[in-house]
Amino acid sequence: MQIHIYDNVTQVGQAAATLFTAQLLRKPDSVFGFATGSSPSVLYRQLIALRRAGILDFSSSVSFSLDEYCGIPISHPCSYRAFMQAELFDHINMKATYVPDGNAPDLAAECVRYDAQIAACGGIDMQLLGIGRNGHIAFNEPSGAFSYETHVTELTPSTIDANKRFFQGEEVPRKAISMGIGSIMASRELVMIATGSDKAQAVRYALEGDIDPMFPASIIRFHKVSTLFLDKAAAALL
Ligand code: F6R
Repeated sequence: MQIHIYDNVTQVGQAAATLFTAQLLRKPDSVFGFATGSSPSVLYRQLIALRRAGILDFSSSVSFSLDEYCGIPISHPCSYRAFMQAELFDHINMKATYVPDGNAPDLAAECVRYDAQIAACGGIDMQLLGIGRNGHIAFNEPSGAFSYETHVTELTPSTIDANKRFFQGEEVPRKAISMGIGSIMASRELVMIATGSDKAQAVRYALEGDIDPMFPASIIRFHKVSTLFLDKAAAALL
């Protein structure tokens, strides 16, 4: 695992963008895995700028999002589909952007369908990850075992609390569909972004703690090609 520590968040975004840029230039039909939330914003802004400058053409590439809430319509601004449209998809020209359907009538079938769709696209070339304060990646919450496949998950109080900031007083959904650890680890390359002091403890456990499903992010240490971009605040406890 390569770890890069920068003075500020803008540098983190610029550095991460160099990897995504190289991937797209090398393989125009890349399959990207994207994360939602605040950590990737700095990267997404860079990718949008590169697209606007005519440097990147995403028209042959596709993306799979890591997760989606259950029980809120995709028109809700906090749905991960709406969030990703606003943060990235509306501003670049990807061929297709896949997000699990958190309102599918049969959620178990939707999970199977999502994994089949990833497989049909040949798997993920470059997967972006954030990290939860409790060590979750995607919505793989701490538990007794790693979940291999896409699955429906109950969000923990820590995750619900962390995501309240997006919901402005409304209830945060309790349930979500999440890509499993299997698809994440099968990605050909992993890129993680963590910034801010509230991620410092999680980053320390992920890199220095036991590899343990009670701290799901620890599994990425088993991946052969992974890069972690941190700002100084997130790296403070290493
Ligand atoms: C979102 C996701 C989550 C977030 C994590 C950190 O698709 O998979 O694991 O990456 O909750 O969220 P932020 O970046 O908002 O701190």
